[in-house]
Amino acid sequence: PTPPRLYGPLRRNSVGVDLSQAGERDVLEQNVAKLETGPALEAGPIVSGKPKTAGGQPVSPPFDLSCTLGTVLEASEADVDAALDAAVRFQPEWDKCGGAARARILAAMGDALENNMDRLCALMAQEGGKTFGDGVAEVREAVDFCRYYAVQAEEKFEGQTRLPGPAGETNHISLHGRGVFACISPWNFPLAIFTGQIAAALGAGNTVIAKPAEQTPLVAYEAVRLFQAAGLPGEALHLLPGRGETVGAKLTADPRVSGVCFTGGTDTARLINRTLADRPGPIIPFIAETGGLNAMFVDTTALREQVIDDVLVSAFGSAGQRCSALRILFLPNDTADLLIDGLKGAMDELKLGHPGHADTDVGPVIDAEAHEMLTSYVARMKGEATLLKQMDAPDGGHFFGPAIIELSSLDQIEKETFGPVLHIIRYDPDDIDKVGAALQAKGYGLTLGVHSRLESFARKVRAVVHAGNTYINRSMTGAVVGVQPFGGEGLSGTGPKAGGPHYLLRFAAERVLTNNI
Ligand code: SER
Repeated sequence: PTPPRLYGPLRRNSVGVDLSQAGERDVLEQNVAKLETGPALEAGPIVSGKPKTAGGQPVSPPFDLSCTLGTVLEASEADVDAALDAAVRFQPEWDKCGGAARARILAAMGDALENNMDRLCALMAQEGGKTFGDGVAEVREAVDFCRYYAVQAEEKFEGQTRLPGPAGETNHISLHGRGVFACISPWNFPLAIFTGQIAAALGAGNTVIAKPAEQTPLVAYEAVRLFQAAGLPGEALHLLPGRGETVGAKLTADPRVSGVCFTGGTDTARLINRTLADRPGPIIPFIAETGGLNAMFVDTTALREQVIDDVLVSAFGSAGQRCSALRILFLPNDTADLLIDGLKGAMDELKLGHPGHADTDVGPVIDAEAHEMLTSYVARMKGEATLLKQMDAPDGGHFFGPAIIELSSLDQIEKETFGPVLHIIRYDPDDIDKVGAALQAKGYGLTLGVHSRLESFARKVRAVVHAGNTYINRSMTGAVVGVQPFGGEGLSGTGPKAGGPHYLLRFAAERVLTNNI
Protein backbone atom coordinates (compact mmCIF):
# COMPACT_ATOMS: atom_id res chain seq x y z
CA PRO A 1 0.00 0.00 0.00
CA THR A 2 1.10 3.56 -0.67
CA PRO A 3 2.08 5.17 2.64
CA PRO A 4 0.25 8.39 3.55
CA ARG A 5 2.04 11.43 2.17
CA LEU A 6 3.67 13.76 4.62
CA TYR A 7 3.14 17.10 2.92
CA GLY A 8 2.77 16.44 -0.79
CA PRO A 9 1.53 19.39 -2.80
CA LEU A 10 0.58 21.26 0.37
CA ARG A 11 4.20 21.59 1.48
CA ARG A 12 4.90 25.12 2.69
CA ASN A 13 8.09 26.99 3.54
CA SER A 14 8.89 27.83 7.15
CA VAL A 15 7.52 31.17 8.29
CA GLY A 16 10.11 32.33 10.84
CA VAL A 17 9.76 35.38 13.05
CA ASP A 18 8.72 38.91 12.19
CA LEU A 19 11.68 41.14 12.98
CA SER A 20 9.62 44.28 12.51
CA GLN A 21 7.98 43.44 15.87
CA ALA A 22 9.87 44.82 18.89
CA GLY A 23 8.75 41.86 21.00
CA GLU A 24 10.29 39.36 18.58
CA ARG A 25 13.57 41.30 18.44
CA ASP A 26 13.69 41.45 22.26
CA VAL A 27 13.36 37.68 22.51
CA LEU A 28 16.34 37.23 20.18
CA GLU A 29 18.44 39.74 22.12
CA GLN A 30 17.54 37.97 25.36
CA ASN A 31 18.70 34.68 23.87
CA VAL A 32 22.04 36.23 22.97
CA ALA A 33 22.39 37.56 26.54
CA LYS A 34 21.54 34.08 27.88
CA LEU A 35 24.34 32.55 25.84
CA GLU A 36 26.76 35.27 27.00
CA THR A 37 26.03 34.80 30.67
CA GLY A 38 25.06 31.12 30.70
CA PRO A 39 27.34 28.12 31.06
CA ALA A 40 30.15 27.89 28.50
CA LEU A 41 29.17 26.04 25.35
CA GLU A 42 30.89 22.86 24.31
CA ALA A 43 31.38 20.94 21.09
CA GLY A 44 33.30 17.86 20.10
CA PRO A 45 32.97 14.66 18.13
CA ILE A 46 29.73 12.72 18.38
CA VAL A 47 30.30 9.12 17.31
CA SER A 48 27.38 6.68 17.44
CA GLY A 49 25.39 9.16 19.49
CA LYS A 50 28.09 9.62 22.14
CA PRO A 51 29.45 13.13 22.54
CA LYS A 52 33.03 13.75 23.63
CA THR A 53 33.91 17.28 24.69
CA ALA A 54 36.42 17.13 27.56
CA GLY A 55 39.73 18.88 26.92
CA GLY A 56 38.46 21.18 24.14
CA GLN A 57 40.17 24.44 23.14
CA PRO A 58 38.52 27.81 23.92
CA VAL A 59 36.94 29.76 21.04
CA SER A 60 35.88 33.44 20.86
CA PRO A 61 33.04 35.12 18.99
CA PRO A 62 34.20 36.99 15.86
CA PHE A 63 32.99 40.34 17.23
CA ASP A 64 34.74 40.21 20.61
CA LEU A 65 38.08 38.46 20.75
CA SER A 66 38.46 39.17 24.46
CA CYS A 67 35.75 36.75 25.59
CA THR A 68 35.35 32.99 25.41
CA LEU A 69 32.24 31.55 23.85
CA GLY A 70 32.93 27.91 24.58
CA THR A 71 35.33 25.06 23.97
CA VAL A 72 35.77 22.78 20.99
CA LEU A 73 37.40 19.38 20.86
CA GLU A 74 38.64 18.31 17.45
CA ALA A 75 38.09 14.75 16.28
CA SER A 76 41.09 12.42 16.47
CA GLU A 77 42.13 9.87 13.86
CA ALA A 78 40.61 7.19 16.10
CA ASP A 79 37.29 9.09 16.09
CA VAL A 80 37.30 9.17 12.28
CA ASP A 81 37.91 5.41 12.16
CA ALA A 82 35.28 4.60 14.77
CA ALA A 83 32.71 6.79 13.00
CA LEU A 84 33.42 5.15 9.63
CA ASP A 85 33.18 1.64 11.06
CA ALA A 86 29.86 2.35 12.75
CA ALA A 87 28.42 4.18 9.73
CA VAL A 88 29.35 1.32 7.37
CA ARG A 89 27.83 -1.24 9.75
CA PHE A 90 24.54 0.57 10.20
CA GLN A 91 23.92 1.71 6.62
CA PRO A 92 22.13 -1.42 5.28
CA GLU A 93 19.64 -1.25 8.15
CA TRP A 94 19.08 2.47 7.59
CA ASP A 95 18.52 1.90 3.87
CA LYS A 96 16.11 -0.95 4.55
CA CYS A 97 13.89 1.09 6.86
CA GLY A 98 12.61 2.92 3.76
CA GLY A 99 12.00 6.47 2.59
CA ALA A 100 8.75 6.99 4.51
CA ALA A 101 10.25 6.14 7.91
CA ARG A 102 13.30 8.30 7.22
CA ALA A 103 11.01 11.12 6.06
CA ARG A 104 9.28 11.15 9.42
CA ILE A 105 12.58 11.71 11.22
CA LEU A 106 13.54 14.51 8.81
CA ALA A 107 10.14 16.12 9.31
CA ALA A 108 10.60 15.89 13.08
CA MET A 109 14.01 17.54 12.68
CA GLY A 110 12.36 20.38 10.75
CA ASP A 111 9.95 20.90 13.64
CA ALA A 112 12.79 20.71 16.20
CA LEU A 113 14.73 23.41 14.35
CA GLU A 114 11.67 25.63 14.10
CA ASN A 115 10.96 25.20 17.81
CA ASN A 116 14.54 26.22 18.64
CA MET A 117 14.70 29.16 16.26
CA ASP A 118 15.52 31.81 18.88
CA ARG A 119 18.37 29.90 20.46
CA LEU A 120 19.81 28.89 17.09
CA CYS A 121 19.75 32.50 15.87
CA ALA A 122 21.52 33.59 19.04
CA LEU A 123 24.13 30.88 18.62
CA MET A 124 24.74 31.79 14.98
CA ALA A 125 25.11 35.43 15.97
CA GLN A 126 27.66 34.46 18.60
CA GLU A 127 29.67 31.89 16.70
CA GLY A 128 29.24 32.97 13.09
CA GLY A 129 28.65 36.72 13.47
CA LYS A 130 25.22 36.42 11.80
CA THR A 131 22.72 39.25 12.11
CA PHE A 132 19.22 38.28 13.27
CA GLY A 133 17.79 38.77 9.80
CA ASP A 134 20.33 36.33 8.39
CA GLY A 135 19.90 33.97 11.34
CA VAL A 136 16.14 33.73 10.99
CA ALA A 137 16.45 33.18 7.23
CA GLU A 138 19.02 30.49 7.88
CA VAL A 139 16.93 28.54 10.40
CA ARG A 140 14.00 28.75 7.99
CA GLU A 141 16.17 27.40 5.19
CA ALA A 142 17.33 24.51 7.39
CA VAL A 143 13.70 23.71 8.29
CA ASP A 144 12.75 23.88 4.61
CA PHE A 145 15.56 21.53 3.60
CA CYS A 146 14.40 18.95 6.14
CA ARG A 147 10.77 19.14 5.05
CA TYR A 148 11.52 19.28 1.33
CA TYR A 149 13.87 16.30 1.43
CA ALA A 150 11.40 14.44 3.66
CA VAL A 151 8.84 14.72 0.89
CA GLN A 152 11.41 13.60 -1.69
CA ALA A 153 12.50 10.65 0.46
CA GLU A 154 8.92 9.53 0.91
CA GLU A 155 7.98 9.97 -2.73
CA LYS A 156 11.08 8.49 -4.36
CA PHE A 157 12.71 6.14 -1.86
CA GLU A 158 9.79 4.10 -0.58
CA GLY A 159 9.22 0.79 -2.33
CA GLN A 160 9.87 0.28 -6.02
CA THR A 161 8.44 1.53 -9.29
CA ARG A 162 7.11 -0.88 -11.89
CA LEU A 163 8.53 -0.42 -15.39
CA PRO A 164 6.95 -1.49 -18.67
CA GLY A 165 8.25 -4.76 -20.15
CA PRO A 166 7.37 -7.89 -22.11
CA ALA A 167 4.66 -10.22 -20.81
CA GLY A 168 5.89 -12.92 -18.46
CA GLU A 169 8.57 -10.95 -16.63
CA THR A 170 8.29 -8.00 -14.28
CA ASN A 171 10.67 -5.05 -14.14
CA HIS A 172 11.07 -2.70 -11.19
CA ILE A 173 13.40 0.16 -10.35
CA SER A 174 14.21 1.21 -6.80
CA LEU A 175 16.44 3.83 -5.18
CA HIS A 176 18.87 3.09 -2.34
CA GLY A 177 21.56 4.75 -0.31
CA ARG A 178 25.08 4.31 -1.66
CA GLY A 179 26.72 3.75 1.70
CA VAL A 180 28.46 6.35 3.87
CA PHE A 181 28.37 9.96 2.71
CA ALA A 182 30.93 12.48 3.92
CA CYS A 183 29.23 15.86 4.24
CA ILE A 184 31.71 18.74 4.41
CA SER A 185 30.06 22.09 5.06
CA PRO A 186 31.10 25.76 5.23
CA TRP A 187 31.01 28.33 8.03
CA ASN A 188 28.90 30.88 6.15
CA PHE A 189 25.75 28.72 6.48
CA PRO A 190 26.68 26.74 9.58
CA LEU A 191 23.14 25.49 10.09
CA ALA A 192 21.33 25.50 6.74
CA ILE A 193 23.99 23.95 4.52
CA PHE A 194 25.19 21.66 7.33
CA THR A 195 21.65 20.38 7.91
CA GLY A 196 20.65 20.36 4.25
CA GLN A 197 23.53 18.15 3.13
CA ILE A 198 22.92 15.71 5.98
CA ALA A 199 19.14 15.60 5.51
CA ALA A 200 19.53 14.82 1.81
CA ALA A 201 22.11 12.09 2.34
CA LEU A 202 20.09 10.52 5.15
CA GLY A 203 16.80 10.79 3.29
CA ALA A 204 18.33 8.87 0.37
CA GLY A 205 19.34 6.03 2.68
CA ASN A 206 22.97 6.82 3.41
CA THR A 207 24.60 7.07 6.78
CA VAL A 208 26.57 10.28 7.26
CA ILE A 209 29.85 11.53 8.61
CA ALA A 210 29.56 15.31 8.95
CA LYS A 211 32.66 17.50 9.00
CA PRO A 212 31.59 21.08 9.81
CA ALA A 213 33.80 24.08 9.10
CA GLU A 214 36.38 24.59 11.84
CA GLN A 215 34.98 28.09 12.51
CA THR A 216 31.44 26.90 13.39
CA PRO A 217 31.43 23.58 15.27
CA LEU A 218 29.12 24.79 18.07
CA VAL A 219 26.18 25.30 15.73
CA ALA A 220 26.89 21.93 14.10
CA TYR A 221 27.02 20.22 17.49
CA GLU A 222 23.66 21.71 18.44
CA ALA A 223 22.15 20.58 15.13
CA VAL A 224 23.34 16.99 15.62
CA ARG A 225 21.84 16.96 19.12
CA LEU A 226 18.55 18.09 17.59
CA PHE A 227 18.72 15.32 14.97
CA GLN A 228 19.09 12.84 17.83
CA ALA A 229 16.20 14.40 19.73
CA ALA A 230 14.12 14.10 16.54
CA GLY A 231 14.59 10.32 16.66
CA LEU A 232 17.61 9.77 14.41
CA PRO A 233 19.60 6.70 15.49
CA GLY A 234 23.10 7.64 16.68
CA GLU A 235 24.77 5.30 14.18
CA ALA A 236 23.18 7.11 11.23
CA LEU A 237 24.98 10.42 11.79
CA HIS A 238 28.44 11.06 13.22
CA LEU A 239 29.94 14.50 13.83
CA LEU A 240 33.67 15.04 13.39
CA PRO A 241 34.74 18.65 14.05
CA GLY A 242 38.24 19.48 12.91
CA ARG A 243 40.38 20.95 10.20
CA GLY A 244 40.11 20.19 6.52
CA GLU A 245 43.80 19.24 6.32
CA THR A 246 43.39 16.57 8.98
CA VAL A 247 39.82 15.31 9.44
CA GLY A 248 38.62 16.26 5.93
CA ALA A 249 41.68 14.79 4.23
CA LYS A 250 41.49 11.50 6.15
CA LEU A 251 37.80 11.17 5.50
CA THR A 252 37.89 11.79 1.75
CA ALA A 253 40.88 9.46 1.26
CA ASP A 254 39.12 6.56 2.98
CA PRO A 255 37.64 3.90 0.65
CA ARG A 256 34.83 3.29 3.15
CA VAL A 257 33.29 6.61 2.02
CA SER A 258 30.80 6.10 -0.83
CA GLY A 259 30.01 9.71 -1.66
CA VAL A 260 31.15 13.24 -0.82
CA CYS A 261 28.97 16.31 -0.57
CA PHE A 262 31.01 19.47 -0.24
CA THR A 263 30.26 23.19 -0.11
CA GLY A 264 33.19 25.60 0.03
CA GLY A 265 35.98 27.03 -2.09
CA THR A 266 36.71 26.00 -5.68
CA ASP A 267 40.35 25.16 -4.83
CA THR A 268 39.29 22.79 -2.04
CA ALA A 269 36.82 21.13 -4.40
CA ARG A 270 39.67 20.46 -6.83
CA LEU A 271 41.75 19.00 -4.02
CA ILE A 272 38.94 16.66 -2.95
CA ASN A 273 38.41 15.65 -6.58
CA ARG A 274 42.08 14.69 -6.86
CA THR A 275 41.96 12.75 -3.58
CA LEU A 276 38.91 10.81 -4.74
CA ALA A 277 40.52 10.04 -8.09
CA ASP A 278 43.70 8.71 -6.45
CA ARG A 279 42.26 6.67 -3.59
CA PRO A 280 41.60 2.94 -3.76
CA GLY A 281 38.03 1.69 -3.55
CA PRO A 282 34.88 2.51 -5.49
CA ILE A 283 34.38 5.39 -7.92
CA ILE A 284 31.98 7.64 -6.09
CA PRO A 285 29.79 10.70 -6.65
CA PHE A 286 31.22 14.08 -5.69
CA ILE A 287 28.71 16.88 -5.20
CA ALA A 288 30.45 20.25 -4.98
CA GLU A 289 28.94 23.68 -4.51
CA THR A 290 31.68 26.28 -4.77
CA GLY A 291 32.33 29.96 -5.40
CA GLY A 292 31.23 32.44 -8.01
CA LEU A 293 32.22 35.64 -9.75
CA ASN A 294 28.68 36.92 -9.62
CA ALA A 295 27.72 39.96 -11.65
CA MET A 296 24.74 42.25 -12.04
CA PHE A 297 24.11 44.06 -15.33
CA VAL A 298 22.17 47.31 -15.12
CA ASP A 299 20.89 49.19 -18.15
CA THR A 300 19.65 52.76 -18.51
CA THR A 301 15.99 51.78 -18.11
CA ALA A 302 16.52 50.35 -14.60
CA LEU A 303 14.86 52.03 -11.62
CA ARG A 304 17.56 53.80 -9.63
CA GLU A 305 16.18 53.25 -6.11
CA GLN A 306 15.48 49.61 -6.78
CA VAL A 307 19.00 49.07 -8.14
CA ILE A 308 20.54 50.71 -5.07
CA ASP A 309 18.46 48.68 -2.61
CA ASP A 310 19.13 45.41 -4.37
CA VAL A 311 22.85 46.06 -4.78
CA LEU A 312 23.28 46.83 -1.07
CA VAL A 313 21.51 43.63 -0.04
CA SER A 314 23.30 41.52 -2.63
CA ALA A 315 26.81 42.83 -2.03
CA PHE A 316 26.90 43.71 1.66
CA GLY A 317 24.17 41.57 3.25
CA SER A 318 25.74 38.81 5.41
CA ALA A 319 28.93 40.94 5.21
CA GLY A 320 29.29 39.73 1.61
CA GLN A 321 29.98 36.23 2.88
CA ARG A 322 27.57 34.35 0.65
CA CYS A 323 28.66 32.43 -2.39
CA SER A 324 25.69 34.02 -4.14
CA ALA A 325 26.80 37.59 -3.27
CA LEU A 326 27.22 40.27 -5.90
CA ARG A 327 30.90 40.87 -6.73
CA ILE A 328 30.87 42.88 -9.99
CA LEU A 329 28.30 45.53 -10.78
CA PHE A 330 28.19 46.63 -14.42
CA LEU A 331 26.76 50.14 -14.66
CA PRO A 332 25.83 51.89 -17.91
CA ASN A 333 28.18 54.76 -18.86
CA ASP A 334 25.22 57.15 -19.07
CA THR A 335 23.84 56.67 -15.55
CA ALA A 336 26.83 55.29 -13.64
CA ASP A 337 27.65 58.53 -11.79
CA LEU A 338 24.09 58.91 -10.57
CA LEU A 339 23.92 55.31 -9.40
CA ILE A 340 27.32 55.49 -7.68
CA ASP A 341 26.28 58.64 -5.80
CA GLY A 342 23.12 56.90 -4.66
CA LEU A 343 25.02 53.81 -3.57
CA LYS A 344 27.50 55.83 -1.54
CA GLY A 345 24.69 57.70 0.16
CA ALA A 346 22.81 54.50 0.95
CA MET A 347 25.95 52.94 2.45
CA ASP A 348 25.94 55.73 5.04
CA GLU A 349 22.66 54.32 6.33
CA LEU A 350 24.08 50.83 6.95
CA LYS A 351 24.83 49.97 10.55
CA LEU A 352 27.93 47.88 11.05
CA GLY A 353 28.21 46.26 14.47
CA HIS A 354 27.42 43.54 16.98
CA PRO A 355 25.35 40.84 15.29
CA GLY A 356 23.42 40.22 18.50
CA HIS A 357 21.87 43.72 18.36
CA ALA A 358 18.62 43.84 16.45
CA ASP A 359 19.44 47.05 14.53
CA THR A 360 22.70 45.76 13.00
CA ASP A 361 22.72 45.44 9.22
CA VAL A 362 26.26 44.15 8.72
CA GLY A 363 28.13 41.99 11.23
CA PRO A 364 31.81 41.03 11.40
CA VAL A 365 33.65 38.81 8.94
CA ILE A 366 34.31 35.33 10.16
CA ASP A 367 37.89 35.34 11.44
CA ALA A 368 41.30 37.00 11.52
CA GLU A 369 42.37 35.32 8.30
CA ALA A 370 39.33 36.66 6.41
CA HIS A 371 39.92 40.11 7.88
CA GLU A 372 43.56 40.12 6.87
CA MET A 373 42.80 38.89 3.36
CA LEU A 374 40.21 41.66 2.85
CA THR A 375 42.43 44.35 4.34
CA SER A 376 45.39 43.51 2.14
CA TYR A 377 43.15 43.12 -0.93
CA VAL A 378 41.66 46.59 -0.53
CA ALA A 379 45.11 48.06 0.22
CA ARG A 380 46.46 46.54 -3.00
CA MET A 381 43.46 47.64 -5.07
CA LYS A 382 43.94 51.23 -3.89
CA GLY A 383 47.04 51.23 -6.06
CA GLU A 384 45.54 49.41 -9.03
CA ALA A 385 41.97 50.77 -9.14
CA THR A 386 39.81 53.48 -7.53
CA LEU A 387 38.48 52.98 -4.03
CA LEU A 388 35.18 54.88 -4.27
CA LYS A 389 34.16 54.41 -0.64
CA GLN A 390 34.85 52.31 2.40
CA MET A 391 32.80 52.44 5.60
CA ASP A 392 34.54 52.79 8.96
CA ALA A 393 34.61 49.63 11.02
CA PRO A 394 34.32 49.39 14.83
CA ASP A 395 37.27 48.04 16.84
CA GLY A 396 37.45 44.92 18.94
CA GLY A 397 36.43 42.21 16.49
CA HIS A 398 36.80 41.17 12.88
CA PHE A 399 34.80 44.09 11.54
CA PHE A 400 35.52 45.10 7.98
CA GLY A 401 34.02 48.22 6.42
CA PRO A 402 32.07 47.48 3.22
CA ALA A 403 33.92 48.92 0.23
CA ILE A 404 33.24 49.79 -3.39
CA ILE A 405 36.08 49.72 -5.87
CA GLU A 406 35.87 50.92 -9.45
CA LEU A 407 37.81 48.83 -11.96
CA SER A 408 38.79 50.07 -15.38
CA SER A 409 38.55 46.59 -16.88
CA LEU A 410 37.31 43.09 -16.17
CA ASP A 411 40.92 41.94 -16.62
CA GLN A 412 41.61 43.27 -13.12
CA ILE A 413 39.58 40.55 -11.45
CA GLU A 414 39.96 36.78 -11.73
CA LYS A 415 38.16 35.36 -8.71
CA GLU A 416 35.86 36.35 -5.88
CA THR A 417 36.96 38.24 -2.80
CA PHE A 418 34.82 36.65 -0.11
CA GLY A 419 33.53 39.59 1.88
CA PRO A 420 31.84 42.99 1.60
CA VAL A 421 33.80 44.30 -1.38
CA LEU A 422 31.86 45.37 -4.45
CA HIS A 423 33.55 46.05 -7.78
CA ILE A 424 32.02 48.45 -10.27
CA ILE A 425 32.74 48.48 -13.98
CA ARG A 426 31.25 51.03 -16.39
CA TYR A 427 30.09 49.66 -19.72
CA ASP A 428 27.94 50.35 -22.73
CA PRO A 429 24.79 48.15 -22.62
CA ASP A 430 24.94 48.00 -26.43
CA ASP A 431 28.16 45.98 -25.96
CA ILE A 432 26.47 43.42 -23.69
CA ASP A 433 27.39 40.54 -26.03
CA LYS A 434 31.10 41.32 -25.77
CA VAL A 435 31.13 42.21 -22.06
CA GLY A 436 28.97 39.23 -21.11
CA ALA A 437 31.16 36.85 -23.11
CA ALA A 438 34.27 38.16 -21.33
CA LEU A 439 32.63 37.49 -17.96
CA GLN A 440 31.47 34.05 -19.07
CA ALA A 441 35.04 33.24 -20.12
CA LYS A 442 36.14 33.52 -16.47
CA GLY A 443 34.50 30.11 -16.02
CA TYR A 444 32.11 30.66 -13.11
CA GLY A 445 28.34 30.30 -13.23
CA LEU A 446 26.60 30.76 -9.91
CA THR A 447 24.32 33.81 -9.66
CA LEU A 448 23.53 36.58 -12.10
CA GLY A 449 21.52 39.77 -11.68
CA VAL A 450 19.86 41.95 -14.30
CA HIS A 451 18.21 45.30 -13.71
CA SER A 452 16.23 46.55 -16.69
CA ARG A 453 12.69 47.19 -17.77
CA LEU A 454 13.40 45.67 -21.16
CA GLU A 455 12.73 41.99 -21.58
CA SER A 456 14.99 42.08 -24.67
CA PHE A 457 17.97 43.29 -22.61
CA ALA A 458 17.47 40.59 -19.97
CA ARG A 459 17.29 38.01 -22.75
CA LYS A 460 20.56 39.25 -24.27
CA VAL A 461 22.35 39.00 -20.93
CA ARG A 462 21.07 35.49 -20.34
CA ALA A 463 22.10 34.43 -23.82
CA VAL A 464 25.77 35.16 -23.10
CA VAL A 465 26.12 34.67 -19.33
CA HIS A 466 25.08 31.29 -18.01
CA ALA A 467 24.40 31.10 -14.30
CA GLY A 468 22.71 28.54 -12.11
CA ASN A 469 20.47 31.22 -10.59
CA THR A 470 19.47 34.37 -12.47
CA TYR A 471 17.51 37.14 -10.77
CA ILE A 472 15.83 39.92 -12.77
CA ASN A 473 14.93 43.18 -11.02
CA ARG A 474 15.56 41.97 -7.49
CA SER A 475 18.38 41.12 -5.14
CA MET A 476 20.40 38.05 -6.05
CA THR A 477 20.88 36.27 -2.74
CA GLY A 478 18.64 34.24 -0.47
CA ALA A 479 17.42 31.40 -2.66
CA VAL A 480 14.38 29.69 -1.15
CA VAL A 481 14.15 25.89 -0.93
CA GLY A 482 11.81 24.45 -3.55
CA VAL A 483 11.27 27.91 -5.05
CA GLN A 484 14.76 28.78 -6.30
CA PRO A 485 16.74 25.52 -6.18
CA PHE A 486 20.32 26.69 -5.72
CA GLY A 487 23.67 25.86 -7.29
CA GLY A 488 25.94 26.74 -10.17
CA GLU A 489 27.88 25.36 -13.08
CA GLY A 490 31.46 25.44 -14.38
CA LEU A 491 33.89 26.53 -11.65
CA SER A 492 30.89 27.14 -9.39
CA GLY A 493 29.99 23.52 -8.85
CA THR A 494 28.82 20.17 -10.09
CA GLY A 495 25.11 20.41 -9.32
CA PRO A 496 22.53 19.09 -8.61
CA LYS A 497 20.76 22.03 -7.08
CA ALA A 498 20.22 22.08 -3.33
CA GLY A 499 16.56 22.46 -2.46
CA GLY A 500 15.55 21.17 -5.89
CA PRO A 501 13.66 18.14 -7.14
CA HIS A 502 16.75 16.27 -8.40
CA TYR A 503 19.07 16.72 -5.41
CA LEU A 504 18.44 13.45 -3.58
CA LEU A 505 18.92 11.37 -6.71
CA ARG A 506 22.65 12.16 -6.77
CA PHE A 507 22.96 10.59 -3.33
CA ALA A 508 21.33 7.37 -4.50
CA ALA A 509 22.13 4.08 -6.15
CA GLU A 510 19.51 2.86 -8.65
CA ARG A 511 18.73 -0.84 -8.82
CA VAL A 512 16.61 -2.58 -11.46
CA LEU A 513 15.12 -6.01 -10.85
CA THR A 514 13.99 -8.10 -13.81
CA ASN A 515 12.07 -11.12 -12.55
CA ASN A 516 11.12 -14.01 -14.78
CA ILE A 517 10.22 -16.57 -12.12
N1 SER B 1 21.82 29.78 -1.03
C1 SER B 1 22.41 31.02 -0.62
C2 SER B 1 21.80 32.18 -1.31
O1 SER B 1 21.00 32.01 -2.20
C3 SER B 1 23.89 31.07 -0.83
O2 SER B 1 24.55 29.95 -0.40
O3 SER B 1 22.12 33.27 -0.98
